[in-house]
Amino acid sequence: MAGRNKITVVGAGNVGATAAHWIASKELADVVLVDIVEGVPQGKSLDLAQSAPIDGFDVKLVGANSYEETAGSDVVIITAGLPRKPGMSRDDLLKTNSDIVGSVTEEIAKHSPDAVIIIVSNPLDAMAQVAFVRSGFPKNRVIGMAGVLDSARMRCFLAEALDVSVENVTAFVLGGHGDTMVPLPRYSTCAGIPVTELLPEEKIDAIVDRTANGGAEIVGLLKTGSAFYAPSLGAVEMAESILKDKKKILPCAVYLEGEYGVNNLFVGVPCKLGKNGVEQIIEISLTNDERAALQKSAGAVQELIDVLGI
Ligand code: NAI
Ligand code: 2OP
Repeated sequence: MAGRNKITVVGAGNVGATAAHWIASKELADVVLVDIVEGVPQGKSLDLAQSAPIDGFDVKLVGANSYEETAGSDVVIITAGLPRKPGMSRDDLLKTNSDIVGSVTEEIAKHSPDAVIIIVSNPLDAMAQVAFVRSGFPKNRVIGMAGVLDSARMRCFLAEALDVSVENVTAFVLGGHGDTMVPLPRYSTCAGIPVTELLPEEKIDAIVDRTANGGAEIVGLLKTGSAFYAPSLGAVEMAESILKDKKKILPCAVYLEGEYGVNNLFVGVPCKLGKNGVEQIIEISLTNDERAALQKSAGAVQELIDVLGI
C-alpha cells in the first residue's frame, strides 16, 4: 500500500498554520510546518496533533526550523513572509518577501526536488516568479494561489446577493492578485445561468469592485494582519486536486508563454490541476474590454518583475 502523502507548509503564521489545520482535518497528508521562529511551528503542530483524537484524523504533524524533516514532500505550500498592514499595498512587501521566498525555495528545491510548489506569499504573482526562477523547477510545478481566493470571494458575494447556496455559484477571476484583477461576470454562473441574467448591472458592478478590494476590506477590519481562513483553504484545494489527481479546473497564477497574449510572466488564468501540477491552461475568448483589463493587470505584475530584475 502506498504511504501517506506529505505536504510541507513553510511559514507557521496565520495562513500556514490554518493550512496545516485544513490539511489535517481533511486527512489529506502528513504535514511538516516550518518557520524561522523557534518553538512556533513545533507548538502549533503539537497542538494540532492533540486535536486529532477529538476530530479523528490520522496524520502526522511535525514542526521544524530547518528543512531536513521536509525531505521528499509531494507538495510544498509557501506562506513565509510578511502580511499586509493597514495602508500597506501588497507591492510594499515586494523586496522583503522576495528575499524570504527566494531563500525558502532554494531549501525546498534541495530537499524535495520532485515537489509541486504552491506559493501564497505576496505580492503573489511576482513571488511565484521568484520561486520559479530560484527552484529551477519546470513551469508545471510552480503555481501561485490567488484566483481560488478571489473567485471564492466573488462567489460568496454573488450567493448573498442572489440569496442562494454558495454551492450553486461559480465565479471567474483572471489576472494578477491585486487591485487590477479581472472578475468576469459573463463567465460567472448560478446553477449554470450567467449571473448577468439574474442580477442588475449596478449590483454586479458593486460585487466586481468588492471582489477586487476583498483583501483590503479584511485588512481594514483586522488591522493587525490579513485574511487567512479562505486563503489557506484555497491553497489546500489546489494541493488536494494535485495529490488526488482530481484534475479540477481552478484559477491559478501560472507561467504564461504566449497564452492570453502574455509572455514570460505569472498571471492568473484557469488551469487544470492534477498529479503533474498544471496539466493544462484553458484559454477562453475575451471581449476587447476584458482583454485590455487583463493586459493592464499583467502590466502591473511586469512592473514588479522589472523592479526585481528577474
Ligand atoms: P503571518 O505573519 O501570520 O505569517 C508569516 C510567517 O512567515 C511568520 O510566522 C514568519 O515567522 C514566517 N517567516 C518569515 N520569514 C520566514 C522564513 N525565511 N522562513 C520561514 N518562515 C518565515 O502572515 P500570514 O497572514 O500567514 O500571511 C503570509 C503571507 O501570505 C503574506 O505574504 C501575505 O500577504 C500572503 N497572503 C497571500 C494571499 C493570497 O491570496 N495569495 C492571501 C493571504 C495572505
Ligand atoms: C488577500 O487578498 C492579503 O492577498 C491577501 O487577502
